[in-house]
Amino acid sequence: MIGELETAWRERRSKRAYRPDPVPRATLERMFEAAQAAPSWCNVQPWRICVTEPPVTAELAATLQGAARGGLPHPEVGFPLDYPPPYKEHRIACGAALYTAMGVKREDNLGRYDAWLRNYALFDAPHLAVVACDRRLGPYAYVDVGVWLGYVLTAATALGLDTCAMASIAAYPEPLRERLPIEPTDVVLFGLVIGYADEEAPANECRTTREPASKNVRFAIT
Ligand SMILES: Cc1cc2nc3c(=O)[nH]c(=O)nc-3n(C[C@H](O)[C@H](O)[C@H](O)COP(=O)(O)O)c2cc1C
Repeated sequence: MIGELETAWRERRSKRAYRPDPVPRATLERMFEAAQAAPSWCNVQPWRICVTEPPVTAELAATLQGAARGGLPHPEVGFPLDYPPPYKEHRIACGAALYTAMGVKREDNLGRYDAWLRNYALFDAPHLAVVACDRRLGPYAYVDVGVWLGYVLTAATALGLDTCAMASIAAYPEPLRERLPIEPTDVVLFGLVIGYADEEAPANECRTTREPASKNVRFAIT
């Protein structure tokens, strides 16, 4: 079983250009149902998801792009202000991989801005899941939502769906709150675009790498 899981995990990559075809509702439901198996502290299951389908996704993308062009980011849960080493290097490499795939040069500020705006076009995906969490539960519930995200990404891969998790959309929560039934007691954490990738698109050539586990995991020895 670990082999199958590893294959699914290694096959999955964030996709940042989509075909317009919507995912059948039954497939989306199957994916979310499978991810309900995720564990959470005291089994509180705090993930709260609002899912869009066409034409709502494109309408929301239009208002998000307007918000992104017109105002500074103001997420409900603070974004990192700084990335100390070694995270900074990872972040730079991740951006470089995407810009190289898209043919955007480092000094091309306009090209980088346009690439950033593609987040708010939701990469033309047919579906956006806005992922929120009850703020009254505190940060450990965000851990639970992260665990759920891993499950849902794996389920999506197993169902032949493509995805990209998107913290960027949480930077402009008002258009999301105006259009979607997000509870006032919830905080918007991130989005997840879902669909079928346009495999010809340069952005989907992007490949990221991982450190060996020995960089992240230490065994205590007696
Ligand atoms: C919580 C979370 C938020 C993310 N937010 C964004 C985002 O706003 N825009 C984006 O293009 N990618 C976003 N990503 C995707 C990461 O950049 C991507 O997972 C990472 O670079 C590793 O690449 P891979 O997913 O292709 O393996 C996000 C991923 C996670 C888990």
